[in-house]
Amino acid sequence: MALAKLLFFCIIDKKIYVEGVSFLERDSATSLFGKSVVALKNFSSEEIHLVLNTARKMKQIIKLGGDKKLSNLRGKAIVNLFYEPSTRTRTSFELAGKYLGADVVSINSSTSSIVKGESLRDTLRTIEAMGVDAIVMRHKSEGAADFATRAVKSIIINAGDGAHAHPSQALLDLFTIEQHKGRLAGLKVAIIGDILHSRVARSDIYAMTKMGMEVHLAGPKTLLPRFFEFDGVTVHEEIDTAIKNADVINVLRIQLERQQAGLFPSTREYSRVFGINKDKLRLAKEDVLILHPGPQNKGLEISSEVTYCSNSAIKDQVQNGVAVRMALLDLTLNGGTK
Ligand code: NCD
Repeated sequence: MALAKLLFFCIIDKKIYVEGVSFLERDSATSLFGKSVVALKNFSSEEIHLVLNTARKMKQIIKLGGDKKLSNLRGKAIVNLFYEPSTRTRTSFELAGKYLGADVVSINSSTSSIVKGESLRDTLRTIEAMGVDAIVMRHKSEGAADFATRAVKSIIINAGDGAHAHPSQALLDLFTIEQHKGRLAGLKVAIIGDILHSRVARSDIYAMTKMGMEVHLAGPKTLLPRFFEFDGVTVHEEIDTAIKNADVINVLRIQLERQQAGLFPSTREYSRVFGINKDKLRLAKEDVLILHPGPQNKGLEISSEVTYCSNSAIKDQVQNGVAVRMALLDLTLNGGTK
């Protein structure tokens, strides 16, 4: 009893120190506890709000700059299983888990038994047998994360499956926009470039339309989806009309690794017509926010000048990635901050 009381006061103390507001409050109706995160298509706007609100609290903790080690996920084990290269996503998931007190191990496909031909199912079951609570997974095939949810009982967090989905990136995009603009609903966002091969675009489109944003897409015709399945989205043949008066421009990387050759005439032509530079920015609102998920092909889809200009929130996206991934891990593995 005495111990419980002591813990209670420690937590209360943390609550006041961290935020000064109801850090302990849980959103009772909406919960992601025990759920896998494969795509945002099935997320409700309440669930998205829950992640963004939790991420805000996590960001406060990171920003305090002191001891970042919480105990929310103490005793939990997380494995990062990445079959594709990654810097930001893998590192931020790893740090997020560690900041929350979990044990985190990262497996790289090139240095694991995967190179010896082990199947995805066997790899997942081997990892699960070691007592793992969550597997954060990136794979080159669409549907791999969904397959994983059926292969094992651990929570699966999709960190990108082929051109299908990248939910944590879209959530950090929303979080970054909300932090800068103070709202989401009613904002005009232009997503520019290789929409066809972009899992970021697909997840952004679902999440942004759900949050009441107006989504405009532009890119070479060969890089736009042929069958368009989303309401609230406008596809433009001309980049100028897409970025005109935009509040946010999200510039996508040209996914050379997923393309067949010949989808646009030349990189020079691409950068001339669709590359985002200072001249093109003039069409957007003066305070337009520039996003790019990274890594960038600088000089191709975006100029250095734009990357480093005062409208750019690209560096913030990287920082916010840790907060959003902490939120996702805390909510799915722990039910939120207790
Ligand atoms: C994105 C990805 O892997 O889909 N990057 C990322 O997660 N930071 C976008 C990309 O690779 O272009």
